[in-house]
Amino acid sequence: MSDEITREFSTVGVIGLGTMGAGIAEVFARNGFTVIGVEQNEAGVQRGREHLEHSTGRAVKREKMTTEQQAELLGRITLTTEMADLAVADLVVEAVVESLEVKKSIFRALDDIVRPDAVLATNTSSLSVTEISTANAKPGRVVGVHFFNPAPVQNLVEIIRTVVTEPDVLADVQGLLRSLGKNPVVCGDKAGFIANTLLFGYLNHAVAMYEGKYASREDIDAAMRFGCGYPMGPLALLDLIGLDTAYEILDTMYKQGRDRLHAPAPILKQYVTAGLLGRKSGRGFYTYE
Ligand code: CAA
Ligand code: NAD
Repeated sequence: MSDEITREFSTVGVIGLGTMGAGIAEVFARNGFTVIGVEQNEAGVQRGREHLEHSTGRAVKREKMTTEQQAELLGRITLTTEMADLAVADLVVEAVVESLEVKKSIFRALDDIVRPDAVLATNTSSLSVTEISTANAKPGRVVGVHFFNPAPVQNLVEIIRTVVTEPDVLADVQGLLRSLGKNPVVCGDKAGFIANTLLFGYLNHAVAMYEGKYASREDIDAAMRFGCGYPMGPLALLDLIGLDTAYEILDTMYKQGRDRLHAPAPILKQYVTAGLLGRKSGRGFYTYE
């Protein structure tokens, strides 16, 4: 891969301002970029705004940022329901729900909106970046850019190259992520990429253990925190990720490999059906205020 950077990025579009998109918007705004955040309706815009205010507000409370810096940061982010506002973007990061159909419809729609030299990235956790890219007329400019949760905190970003991603797109995105203080790693287009391939079998196993009443949720989580030094236990981590997103990731990985390790534990689907999605809905394995 060439290390030469050919593009200047200054305006970044983020589509979907949920758990990940709001965090990704914050990362770019913290680094001085102009950000255009797109949601599907006004309620989504409002949720995204609250997420951004809460996250930056926490930094203010911890004296990591002044209220003036918070106002400047938020001032760099415009929130909208109009995809057409992305016409000025140098890079668009898609972070909507983990659904191939929804993502493909967005990459199709972007054809008529963005500049021909704009780079298009998907934050998918498990779906085929190649398949998403073929919805766009220029699949060579499409790349996977997989941030980790919470995006402002975790330094890893996986860059997923497809067989048609242009080398200069890859090099430019790698340079951009480094300039954000992130640690990019590059991998091919296989469900789960590097980290989720290693992580999700473990998470699913923890759910099965809980479902089988082998141990309490607290004891399962305590075992991995205090015994293995993980920052959070698997059930608390699933609540952070979102149980709907986690279910979709496992389902995609299972369908690709047909391995028992990734066959979603039945209770996961039951929680999702009942609207228990984890932190974002206020209740998952645990209850949140
Ligand atoms: N947004 C922004 N910042 C946040 C945050 C959030 N949601 N949550 C915590 N932070 C910040 C805090 O402000 C704090 O910042 P400072 O150090 O600058 O003060 C810092 O993170 C530490 O936070 P806390 O002291 O409140 O809590 P903690 O030390 O327990 O850390 C945690 C919280 C960062 C979430 C930590 O528990 C952790 O790293 N957990 C594991 C997370 C993980 O494994 N993520 C990967 C999930 S898999 C994935 O993302 C891929 C996928 O496709 C599903
Ligand atoms: P989420 O459910 O928290 O947020 C998704 C957002 O997308 C919602 O706010 C929804 O209103 C919005 N949306 C849906 N359709 C839209 C459209 N057509 N236009 C604009 N906005 C739309 O989901 P999330 O957890 O933030 O996941 C987003 C993506 O990031 C998924 O592909 C997921 O796999 C990936 N991801 C998630 C995590 C995680 O830990 N949650 C980590 C890394 C990557």
